[in-house]
Amino acid sequence: MAARITNIFYSMLLVYLITKCDGKKQVPCVFFFGDSLTDNGNNNFLATAAKANHTPYGIDYPAGPTGRFSNGKNIPDFLAKSLGFEKAIPPFATAKGTKILKGVNYGSGGGGILDESGSQLGDVMSMKKQLINHGKTVADMKLLLGSSGRARVHLNKCLYVSNMGNNDYINNYLSPKYHLSTTLYTPQKFAAILTNQYRRQLRRLYKYGARKVAIYGVGSIGYLPQFRSTVEFMDSTNQVTQHFNDRLATLVQGLNARLSGAQFVFINTTNIALGDPSTLGIKVVDNPCCVVSKQTGLCDAGKKPCHNRNEYYFWDNFHPTETANHAMAIRSYAAASPADAYPTDIRNLVRRN
Ligand SMILES: *[C@@H]1O[C@H](CO)[C@@H](O)[C@H](O)[C@H]1NC(C)=O
Repeated sequence: MAARITNIFYSMLLVYLITKCDGKKQVPCVFFFGDSLTDNGNNNFLATAAKANHTPYGIDYPAGPTGRFSNGKNIPDFLAKSLGFEKAIPPFATAKGTKILKGVNYGSGGGGILDESGSQLGDVMSMKKQLINHGKTVADMKLLLGSSGRARVHLNKCLYVSNMGNNDYINNYLSPKYHLSTTLYTPQKFAAILTNQYRRQLRRLYKYGARKVAIYGVGSIGYLPQFRSTVEFMDSTNQVTQHFNDRLATLVQGLNARLSGAQFVFINTTNIALGDPSTLGIKVVDNPCCVVSKQTGLCDAGKKPCHNRNEYYFWDNFHPTETANHAMAIRSYAAASPADAYPTDIRNLVRRN
């Protein structure tokens, strides 16, 4: 009995120390799921072509190249800061011990909702794999806190962010060289396949205790420097992904109606990206800042990038600069227009009890 009470005391002290030390935090923990827009070091440990742990990546990040697909900070970095966290949420690959109580970043460059998306890049972690990793975190948390009940109370309070789907287009539907999906499915059908799979995955996340969840839509892929060509091509590509975003918004509504005690919000990245980039000081939206490899569209290792990085929207052929990531994170946290986040933004989502 005494041992049990000591154990409970110890667990409570642990939660207190981990979560209350800096009182400004709006949630005790954040978990990130996603692709290269989210990855902050997980792919460094995988055998894949989707890697960013070399220069010039990280040229504006204090620790240098870390595996973030940007010149500086990424969206999770800025969200964590807005939520009151002093440090970045650690990647799953290196998150150890009590650190997991503050959250984990499972993001993996090249990963998608479907397991086969991005497979041509080598070993990347799909949403399924990321959820398996989250299951390991949940199990570790039960051990750290001493019971399933206490782990659940903690997990219920966290924010969950999922930014998935981009690679199901970039490295699947729009990659007919490696995938048959374009031949097999209409854009409508493919969007339905994706959202049906995503629904099951988000329900699994709910079963693990998620109650506050922000879901990002896919970006306007037609405008990526990698795909930029004719206006017709860009428009038709953006129409393809629009089917997914429309269904995703409906999926979020459905989950809110069916999963009791949970709130899901949809972040309309298309609407956020519509803003006038010159208000951010951005002058170049059609070319990347770094020297990209013709094969991969990622920055060539060691080559000198542009010096005026704050004036570029794109860092390489696929990924935004720190400046553009900042704008995306800020508007998903605190919406600048009601169309940015539905039914509410992340700031309001975390205020709920
Ligand atoms: C997202 O915003 C765009 C641009 O305003 C709009 O056309 C689209 O319908 C919105 N999508 C959803 C799913 O709300």
